[in-house]
Amino acid sequence: MLDPLRILQRCDALARHSELKDGLTRVFLSAEQKQANALVLGWMREAGMRADVDAIGNVAGRYEGERPGLPCLMLGSHLDTVRDAGRYDGMLGVITAIECVHALNAAGRRLPFAVEVLGFGDEEGVRFGTTLLGSRAVAGTFDAKTLQAVDAAGTTLEQALRDFGLDPARIPAVARRKGEVLAYAELHIEQGPVLEAEELPVGVVTAINGYSRYAVSLTGVAGHAGTVPMRLRRDALAGAAECALAVERVASALPEVVGTVGWLQTKPGAINVIPGEVHFTLDLRAPKDELRLAALAELRAAFEGIAAARALVLTMRELQSFGVTPCAERLMAQLDAAVAAEGLKPRRLPSGAGHDGMAMQAVADVCMLFVRCKHGISHNPAESITAEDAATGARVLMNFIEKFKP
Ligand code: GLV
Ligand code: MN
Ligand code: MN
Repeated sequence: MLDPLRILQRCDALARHSELKDGLTRVFLSAEQKQANALVLGWMREAGMRADVDAIGNVAGRYEGERPGLPCLMLGSHLDTVRDAGRYDGMLGVITAIECVHALNAAGRRLPFAVEVLGFGDEEGVRFGTTLLGSRAVAGTFDAKTLQAVDAAGTTLEQALRDFGLDPARIPAVARRKGEVLAYAELHIEQGPVLEAEELPVGVVTAINGYSRYAVSLTGVAGHAGTVPMRLRRDALAGAAECALAVERVASALPEVVGTVGWLQTKPGAINVIPGEVHFTLDLRAPKDELRLAALAELRAAFEGIAAARALVLTMRELQSFGVTPCAERLMAQLDAAVAAEGLKPRRLPSGAGHDGMAMQAVADVCMLFVRCKHGISHNPAESITAEDAATGARVLMNFIEKFKP
């Protein structure tokens, strides 16, 4: 029997492992993640799985099929969060998957395939600025150069892994081979308002939008805020402000393209100093790769024009880019059938947010089930879902697992 209340209670329990006293922030390879991993390991084992933490810090559980060693249906999501996060983004998918395995085990059921559940250690990329480290290790696309990425304190990923008690040399062994994973299926909150507007508790994802992420810097000349006349300034922040407005203008002009400057730092950063340097991020997404690349080219030209007009030096460094990840039609059809089995109208929709499936597609076909969230709010402590919707999502996932055909 599925226990939807336990799903929500477990989301609450994980939310207590946070570096914020009055909110939720849990970044990759933190002390809080170690505590969260221990909880999830315990739940997986209680659900009848063999479970362990792998070399990149994912929690990985396996429930054998009718005989040991069969290829698996892989379920999962992530256990890290953004800063001041909600408690369902990522965690809901891991906990619901464990709940489904718990129900299979309680009924003594074995399927013609194994079921694996992954709680990925890094999807959000908050700590090292590069996302999907957990799922890329499993998909075999982890780039060893990333081990030299540093966090805000200057700690390399390599050192952080060691401090967490992990051996970076073992990361390649985390990779799964094609054929071992029959499909990757992820339940996730929608993080948008479409399902709520249509009064539907769940939806089936058609594709995950692609994205480009850049670190941008503008350098001018720092100077005295009282003495330098306006016409003689090379103010990097005024240039960055124009760039942010260019992002808004370019993204708004192209259908379904979204662009965000989510982080910005001025240097030296004092009330009486003209900003000599500004660093900011660009996050650009679209459901079609050609649209995203067109927006990127237009923005690059706009940034160059702004920098030239203001005598600023511009640098743009790509942090990460992913093309659109299509979900497999045969898997979407199986999810549609599981939705219909609940007496609900199957509804397909794209995902504007990034997900572990973007990495997992390198090793297996992927699909996703979205669960409605209140007012479409996410990446926000106000993120919320109802117990009824959590229950519906769990029943649909269970039905999908039970009837799954590779
Ligand atoms: C992850 O949540 C992202 O889409 O940024
Ligand atoms: Mn997120
Ligand atoms: Mn997520």
